[in-house]
Amino acid sequence: MCWGEVRMTKMQKILVVDDAQLNRELLCQMLEGDYVIDMAEDGAVALGKLWEDSNVAALLLDLQMPNADGFAVIEQMKKNGWLNRIPVLIISSEHSVEVENRCLAMGAVDFIHKPFEGSIVRNRVRNAIALFAGRNSLEQKVEEQAQVLKYQSRIIQMQAQKLSRAKPFNELMLEYRSVIMEVETRLKVLNAVFSEEYKRNPFESIKSRLKTPESIYQKLERKGHAATVENIREYISDVAGLRVICSFPDDIYRLAELLIKQDDIIVLRKKDYIQSPKPNGYRSLHFILNVPIFLPDEKKYVKAEVQFRTIAMDFWASLEHKLKYKKDVDSTDEIEQQLKACADSIEALDYQMQEIRNRIYSTGPVEEEMESGDAI
Ligand code: GTP
Ligand code: MG
Repeated sequence: MCWGEVRMTKMQKILVVDDAQLNRELLCQMLEGDYVIDMAEDGAVALGKLWEDSNVAALLLDLQMPNADGFAVIEQMKKNGWLNRIPVLIISSEHSVEVENRCLAMGAVDFIHKPFEGSIVRNRVRNAIALFAGRNSLEQKVEEQAQVLKYQSRIIQMQAQKLSRAKPFNELMLEYRSVIMEVETRLKVLNAVFSEEYKRNPFESIKSRLKTPESIYQKLERKGHAATVENIREYISDVAGLRVICSFPDDIYRLAELLIKQDDIIVLRKKDYIQSPKPNGYRSLHFILNVPIFLPDEKKYVKAEVQFRTIAMDFWASLEHKLKYKKDVDSTDEIEQQLKACADSIEALDYQMQEIRNRIYSTGPVEEEMESGDAI
């Protein structure tokens, strides 16, 4: 008999399950010294021991046993979720491929044939335990990180709530809402004048959004600034965001030019990702503008981010954006390559369409057809 528990409490525990006492003792002799060995004479006793003590590093399991056989033990362990934690190695005199496959399919990690050889049993047990230990510690790390993220997102939510209850914050948001209305109106006016003159609309639609308190708080954190109204004004340029969707690339430049040449608009930053696309294929024309809004007592300059892109570029960007949020998706590299290829095709398509439009309009405006109405 081996009573390893008494001698070495630090060693990992192996549960040997076999109805033949001789087999139990043979296995025990092979493994003692390296592990603490516990034994069970049938499946029911083994399951009872697992319920009592979950601290088992591996299970050596016979198949043919009274009460509950080896299959029943695996089945129950699977139901209880223990197979993810405890490697099960079958020790059996069964030599049929069918039985071996059945055990492996049910979740056993290894199958050792009787008569067993000591060094093979030791090596296989050691490997199985090492494999599971690595996997379990990885899973534990992932779980710990998920907990940290959950905690951080709770803090962000709380801080954002605090922020959104403050009066100065809400006044600031009103300014950003106003600047969105201001820029939108100016663009719509340009659209109306342009369509009067050329009988077509330079843009298809405008989308706008106000950054959420959570997102504002997170961005300030990332940049290392406290969540104050002054810091939002100073360090965040895209609280007010507008996206102008045009049909053709040259409309983008024409419209952007008309907007920024208005004498009270200040261009703080320009990024032309159409002339110089990002390596992933992203194309758009970005501006950070300072635009005056008129409040009851004052005129105030407020920042707004305005992005111009074609319909096709917008279609691409919204799909590519989704990829950023789907970290669990397989073959990300392959999808990135596909997206890059699509971005290049879209560029070619945009210019081909523009060329066709130029030919259609070369003899003058197309009178009867204002396809999307007045667009406003
Ligand atoms: P922040 O994005 O505000 O941190 O500043 P930035 O310096 O990165 O500004 P940039 O002008 O590069 O991007 C501003 C916005 O453009 C982003 O918030 C996105 O909405 C959009 N954008 C930029 N790059 C990409 C991209 O590769 N893919 C997609 N889908 N959108 C992008
Ligand atoms: Mg960015």
